[in-house]
Amino acid sequence: DKDGHKHFMAKEIAEQPLAIDRTLHAYLSEIDEITLPDELDFTKVDRLTMVACGTGYYACMVGKYWFEQIAKMPVEVDVASEFRYREPPVSDRTLGLFVSQSGETADTLAALRYMNGKANQIVGMVNVSESSIARESDVVLPLYAGPEISVASTKAFTCQLVILLIMALRAAQQRGIALPESLPADLRAIPGLINQALTLENQITATCRELSAAKDIIFLGRGQLYPLAMEGALKLKELSYIHAEGYASGELKHGPIALIDDTVPVIVMAPRDALFDKTISNMQEVMARGGRVVLVTDAEGARIAGEGTSEVIVMPQVPDALAPILYAIPAQQIAYYTAIAKGTDVDQPRNLAKSVTVE
Ligand code: F6R
Repeated sequence: DKDGHKHFMAKEIAEQPLAIDRTLHAYLSEIDEITLPDELDFTKVDRLTMVACGTGYYACMVGKYWFEQIAKMPVEVDVASEFRYREPPVSDRTLGLFVSQSGETADTLAALRYMNGKANQIVGMVNVSESSIARESDVVLPLYAGPEISVASTKAFTCQLVILLIMALRAAQQRGIALPESLPADLRAIPGLINQALTLENQITATCRELSAAKDIIFLGRGQLYPLAMEGALKLKELSYIHAEGYASGELKHGPIALIDDTVPVIVMAPRDALFDKTISNMQEVMARGGRVVLVTDAEGARIAGEGTSEVIVMPQVPDALAPILYAIPAQQIAYYTAIAKGTDVDQPRNLAKSVTVE
């Protein structure tokens, strides 16, 4: 049931405030205490290894920034299909975290089995609680996103991010590191901020009509927005079949800038955080070469850097650490509305399956 929406994807994008409320309810008490299962113990490990595929992998990459910054914990992240054949050494002071919406992704399950017996603990973060990854994990963290029907993952991704951030906060507490002021309480603002971001739909629809004529689109981001640039590019290519790449802004001058001309739109994700000026200087390098920029930022960012861009999407102001969760919304909407403009099958893109149970 699409609940009045044209596609499951539209419904699932719109459901995110509710889905995240459910996730917060599961992992934060009313007085904002972290209520992750007690078995999840970061005092017994000094390293975290996260493994996933596709969108789950990008969630893990955001998680890496959080675990490193907030919990000062060394983190390794890999795609499951690489991890499982690398034969990486695994110490018994490593926590293995496997992130999968379906809980059935063959490569992720194989990576889990590789770590089982070697790692200190196997943690499965899944949306489908009766799944193979859930069954074979020591600790299961359900997403509570509700059934995700659209092939492209949306609400599972933002729920994964919320839990990863709560996990990083728990790791910091257990490692005796003070939590950033206002977290986890600030997480309560996320559903409302997403509701505000969803109202930018009309503007994004208009932007996407132009984007739909492009053959190549580049997404740029820095720091914790870098994985969002890759997630935006993944969503766009899977739904609209337009070739898209996500790059770390600082990598641009090491090659990809050669692609830039006025036929390649560049979408820059840049909330006004500590790295804003760096990202904007990369954006200006693009504009100096005739590149057409769509800047996704907040009001202050728009005021400082909006000039000369072809479009500015003004997001609500968000606490720095939470920006990746909020900026997932325009990443999803850009893919969705570009696909609508092109007339592709949004819920069932060609060549793709919701659950990839073969390697
Ligand atoms: C992209 C997408 C895929 C999945 C990937 C992993 O929108 O949906 O990239 O994220 O196939 O699937 P799960 O999370 O079920 O292991």
